[in-house]
Amino acid sequence: MFLFIRSPMGSLGNNMRAVRDRLGDEFVAKLDELHLNALRTGLVSRADLQEAYRKARDMDTNSNRLSLLWLLGIIFFILVATPVFYETISFLLGVRCFLPNNNLVLEATRPIIDCAFCKSVSAPLILNNLTREQFSSYAYSSLPIIVKKAVAHWPAQHSLNYSYIKELYNRVPGSLDAVCQFQHFSSDLKTLRDVFKMSPKRADMSEGAPWFVGWSVCQPTVLAELRKLYPRPHFLPVDAEMPNTDFILMGYEQGAVMHLDYIPRLMWQAQLQGNKSWFLSPAPECDHQCQSFFFYVEPGDAVLVDTRIWYHANTIPRGQFSLTIQSEYG
Ligand SMILES: [Fe+2]
Repeated sequence: MFLFIRSPMGSLGNNMRAVRDRLGDEFVAKLDELHLNALRTGLVSRADLQEAYRKARDMDTNSNRLSLLWLLGIIFFILVATPVFYETISFLLGVRCFLPNNNLVLEATRPIIDCAFCKSVSAPLILNNLTREQFSSYAYSSLPIIVKKAVAHWPAQHSLNYSYIKELYNRVPGSLDAVCQFQHFSSDLKTLRDVFKMSPKRADMSEGAPWFVGWSVCQPTVLAELRKLYPRPHFLPVDAEMPNTDFILMGYEQGAVMHLDYIPRLMWQAQLQGNKSWFLSPAPECDHQCQSFFFYVEPGDAVLVDTRIWYHANTIPRGQFSLTIQSEYG
C-alpha cells in the first residue's frame, strides 16, 4: 500500500516532499529501499505506481473539498441562518429583542471593573457649597461627593412637588404618553398615569401602600417648564455635556434596590425634598479590595456618584416624601 510514495518521476516530487516533512528522512529512505526492491523483482510496474499515486491524490483533493464545504457551511450559518433564526424567534415571541435589555442581562454581560476607583474609599467626600473653579479638581472624579446646600437656592426647592408635576403633565397635551423611561421600582404604579390617578390620601401616604417611582422627562414642553425652576448645577464645568432629558424620582420609603446605571456620563442628583439614604457597594470582583458604606443627603444637597461603577441603593426615612432631580454630565 505504501509503495506509491516513492517518486521516480518528477510528477511525484511534491508528494515525496510532503511525506518527507511528515515522516522524516529515515523512514522515507526505508520506503525507497522497499520500493526499489519491488520494482527490481517485478512485483509492481511504473504504471501501478502512477495509478496508486493518482488515487491518493484524488483522495486528498476530495478531503480538501469536504473541509472547504464545511467551512462555507459554518460561515453560511453564522451570516444567514443565525439572523433568520433570531428574527423568527423574536417574531414568534412577539418581542423586539430576543434578549431583554434588563438589568440581569446587562449585569451578566458587563465588563470586569478595575477596582482602583474604590480602594481606600469608605465615605463620600463632603464639600460645602463651592464655586466652579473650586470644584474643578473634583469634577471628573469617581469619588462619591456631596455638595452641601448646593441647590438650596433653586426655586424648585419650594415650588416643585407632586401637585405641581401632576398639574403640569395634565396641562400639556400628550405628555403622559411621552414618558421615555418609567421605573416603578417595587410599587404597584406601572405608569405615570397611575401615579397621577392616585387618591390624594395615597399620594401623601396618609393611607395605602408606600410608593416610589422615577421617570425620564423628555417631553420638550414639560422639560422646559420644569427647567424654569432649576438651572444646571452652578459648580459643574461650563463645558460639561448634559443630556436633553432629566429624571425625576419621588416617593416614600423603598427607593431603588442595588443596581448599576448603564448611562454614558457621570450622574448628579439634586435632593429637593426629604432625606435620602444611599448605600454604595463596589462590584463583587472588588469585594476583597474595597468596602461598602452608607451616607445620607438632606434637602438642598447635591450628590455626585459615578453610578456606572458604584452599585447603589436608596431608601427614604419612613413618613418622609423624597423628591429628586437627576441628570448627567460629562
Ligand atoms: Fe441608579
